[in-house]
Amino acid sequence: MLRAQKLTIKENTQLNENTFKLVLQGDVPQDLKPGQFAEVKVPGFSLGRPLSLNDFDQESVTFVYRIAGKGTKELTTLKEGELDVINGCGNGFTLKENEHVLVVGGGIGTAPLLPLIRALKENNCKVDVIFGFRERKETLFEEELKALGVGFWITYDSEGNNVVTKMLELGKEDLYFYACGPLPMMAALTNASKASGQCSLETRMGCGFGACMGCSLQLKERTARICKEGPVFAKEEIIWQNLK
Ligand SMILES: Cc1cc2nc3c(=O)[nH]c(=O)nc-3n(C[C@H](O)[C@H](O)[C@H](O)COP(=O)(O)OP(=O)(O)OC[C@H]3O[C@@H](n4cnc5c(N)ncnc54)[C@H](O)[C@@H]3O)c2cc1C
Ligand code: FES
Repeated sequence: MLRAQKLTIKENTQLNENTFKLVLQGDVPQDLKPGQFAEVKVPGFSLGRPLSLNDFDQESVTFVYRIAGKGTKELTTLKEGELDVINGCGNGFTLKENEHVLVVGGGIGTAPLLPLIRALKENNCKVDVIFGFRERKETLFEEELKALGVGFWITYDSEGNNVVTKMLELGKEDLYFYACGPLPMMAALTNASKASGQCSLETRMGCGFGACMGCSLQLKERTARICKEGPVFAKEEIIWQNLK
């Protein structure tokens, strides 16, 4: 359920050159799901910035964000005080149980996949993970993956490897998959995989909670707002050309 709230900045620290971790504290909704996002209002900017839940519990919610423009740049300067947040946006991932699944992420698109992996493990799934980054210095979440005890592989574009070639090399194209990352990566993954899966899509957003229709997307059999009925869609529904 959507919840407008004020949360207190507990941490806003740099992870690598362009990437930061923001932890907000307060009365966090109890029904948050992996794959959902929040609209985080940066003071001085009229629209919220959509950021995926990277972690959450009863008292705090964590985002990992990359500097993309003026709003996220300004966000890096905020070290204390409160932020207005609309929490619980979007549909989130549908969780499998007792299955062997593949989780594939690219760049900052890996951020929403950490809570997903935890939830899949709690559902007794065997989880294999392939994360891809442009270069080694951009690596995220390697320690967290080690701690989760999942099988994982990390690829680097700069070393001539990527998540799709890795999936094929490992022979994991028959596994049900979850994906989040750049659109060309997810389109290529969808084509290469022989299995079904879910993709978390990203687009420029206005309101972020279903009111402005600015993120409408024509799917194969319906029209959906990426912020409300998405951002997670079954691979079979997506017409990739409509996202370019
Ligand atoms: C569902 C969803 C989840 C996301 N999760 C994350 C995350 O966990 N970490 C992260 O680093 N980034 C995430 N993004 C992208 C992030 O929202 C944008 O990078 C950010 O809004 C850019 O704001 P800006 O002011 O820095 O850039 P500007 O380009 O100056 O933004 C101008 C306007 O365009 C909107 N906008 C620009 N780029 C995007 C974009 N890619 N998606 C949506 N709106 C955009 C902004 O919200 C703002 O209203 C997510 C996007 C979506 C749609
Ligand atoms: S961004 Fe307004 S309806 Fe989706």
